[in-house]
Amino acid sequence: MEISLRNQVAVVTGASSGIGSGIAKSLAEAGAVVIVNHSSERSFEEAKAVLKEITEAGGNGITYACDVSKEDQVVKMFQDVVSQFGTVDILVNNAGVQKDAKFTEMTLDQWNTVIGINLTGQFLCAREAIKEFLRRGIDPSRSIACGKIIHISSVHEIIPWAGHANYAASKGAIRMLMQTLAQEYGADKIRVNSICPGAIQTPINKDAWSTSEALSSLLNLIPYNRIGQPKDIGSLAAFLASDLADYITGTSIFVDGGMTTFESFSTGG
Ligand code: BGC
Repeated sequence: MEISLRNQVAVVTGASSGIGSGIAKSLAEAGAVVIVNHSSERSFEEAKAVLKEITEAGGNGITYACDVSKEDQVVKMFQDVVSQFGTVDILVNNAGVQKDAKFTEMTLDQWNTVIGINLTGQFLCAREAIKEFLRRGIDPSRSIACGKIIHISSVHEIIPWAGHANYAASKGAIRMLMQTLAQEYGADKIRVNSICPGAIQTPINKDAWSTSEALSSLLNLIPYNRIGQPKDIGSLAAFLASDLADYITGTSIFVDGGMTTFESFSTGG
């Protein structure tokens, strides 16, 4: 049994670092042409480094700058990808940020930025991807499904998170977006799922792992007793995007070392 994404084109948003870069590399390893999306000129060098790793390993792709919270940029990205590669088969809606604040001190700007990238960005990219899937229709030489969307959510789609109301709200909303799209487009053979990472070692949560004290307190939340790596998410994304997962749609899969079993209850309650 082999995970194959050969002949397929995948857009991975926020792929210049962190979880997105792990996903981009895994999809390329499975044979997809990967669009390594990054948000701005500031992340261009990082995106180029991810693409270099992909091509050095024998894969194929391009970098593409686009702020996913901006409608005109998202529409143009999908138009450009379709004109260069013919179509899009896979969207991984990964781009996300945290702007943490105590709730009573949270500014509207912190709220809007997080909702804009984490939620509106996923809406805009999913809308453009689904339009393209429907335009192309099913092509069995690519996949038995018409298209695949993977939303990158979080354990915080079900675990409330004090000090991060904007982030938790965006992730909770992604669950309903994902399930609604799976329901609305199931008959068109478009599969839509979420991956919910726990603590993955990336720049977004550096404060939680960069000192030994922080790491040991983080590990108290993880029964499996290790921090996750971007590849842990990449492997599942490649499987979910492949025809091996053809009967999986409308589901959130948690990749969290057991964080959602609420480790603190192992000695209390
Ligand atoms: C957040 C990380 C956090 C993890 C577990 C993720 O969604 O982005 O900062 O470490 O959830 O709490």
